[in-house]
Amino acid sequence: MEKPKVVLGISGGIAAYKACELLRRLTESGHDVRVVPTASALQFVGEATWSALSGNPASTEVWESVHEVPHVRIGQAADLVVVAPATADMLAKAAHGIADDLLTNTLLTARCPVIFAPAMHTEMWEHPATQENVATLRRRGAVVIEPAVGRLTGVDTGKGRLPEPGEIFDVCRRVLARGAAGAEQDMAGLHVVVSAGGTREPLDPVRFIGNRSSGKQGYALARTAVARGARVTLVAANTTGLPDPAGVDVLPVGTAVQLREAVLKAAADADAVVMAAAVADFRPARYAEGKIKKQEGVEPEPIALVRNPDVLAEISADRARAGQVIVGFAAETDDVLANGRAKLARKRCDLLVVNEVGERRTFGSEENEAVVLGADGSETPVPFGPKEALADTVWDLVRARIR
Ligand code: CTP
Repeated sequence: MEKPKVVLGISGGIAAYKACELLRRLTESGHDVRVVPTASALQFVGEATWSALSGNPASTEVWESVHEVPHVRIGQAADLVVVAPATADMLAKAAHGIADDLLTNTLLTARCPVIFAPAMHTEMWEHPATQENVATLRRRGAVVIEPAVGRLTGVDTGKGRLPEPGEIFDVCRRVLARGAAGAEQDMAGLHVVVSAGGTREPLDPVRFIGNRSSGKQGYALARTAVARGARVTLVAANTTGLPDPAGVDVLPVGTAVQLREAVLKAAADADAVVMAAAVADFRPARYAEGKIKKQEGVEPEPIALVRNPDVLAEISADRARAGQVIVGFAAETDDVLANGRAKLARKRCDLLVVNEVGERRTFGSEENEAVVLGADGSETPVPFGPKEALADTVWDLVRARIR
């Protein structure tokens, strides 16, 4: 089988050095990569590095090997174009169809999926000019990965950092896989909110009541939605072990009350909300400001609990937007389907993903098996498989219900 052809465009930003790692991952996983740097990208990382790592020539100008008509051929032949880093200047050129070097020509001739991974200073990213260019590119079907928040060049921190190469690679892999299925970018223009992880309800400064949710299913939902072109807000409850998925706005929270606040705010303009987080139904009635100490010969006090708000029921009953689709998750140990149906009716959401849980199933694993129940009476079984496959099924069902 022929290797998938990937064009890796590099524009002139310091994050170009991180693209070397992305290039290595692409070639090592069996992609035929052609690097097309801009002239300013070569100020940061030289031609020799790109051609050595890719095993292909890395040209910048349309005037090299003219007999091969590279300014047309490279784009036409590509299965995927990924521009990482994409500077503000590159986004502007791409949005306006300017073609003054090999990379911008390639972007005009490509008919395959295109991914931009922007990296720039926060001010440049937030400037209305850049934001409008990003909106234009997204409207046309390009995947523009949200920049990460963190250390920028020099001492600044903020939004604008290139996501980790592994995360960009992950988006490439997914976009390529779905491109072959002919279903890429079917969530472009949608804003979705996903909650993930498990809340922790503190008893004192060092102890909490928590649960075993790892957050992996919620992260899989976030990643697949990005690959399908959606704008994703991920409300992440205590998921410290998991890297931020590329292109996702991650809002870390701790308790159920904090999660409620973040979800309600993000849901205001969302087309869909998926509540994959395990939210504690109760919290300790009292929080001890100082650490609770054991006392010799004294039995411990029982822990009094009070109810937490039910976020899923609340957002379902009072929708932030007409036609918003709301999905809940339910982990059940017995009478899985009957309990699921009852819960779906009680919470008034549109879809409920029901898993059967046990000691080794679901929590922390990479796989999942579920049935997705619809308020319309539908029942979609999802066989045992990767959490991403379940995520894609959830998005298929959500999409079919968005008005
Ligand atoms: N959920 C929520 N707010 C809560 C509790 C749960 O939004 N305070 C959401 C979860 O994110 C999940 C669904 O509701 O989508 C799970 O329902 P829940 O009633 O919590 O399930 P269980 O705790 O398993 O309920 P029960 O004890 O009734 O089985």
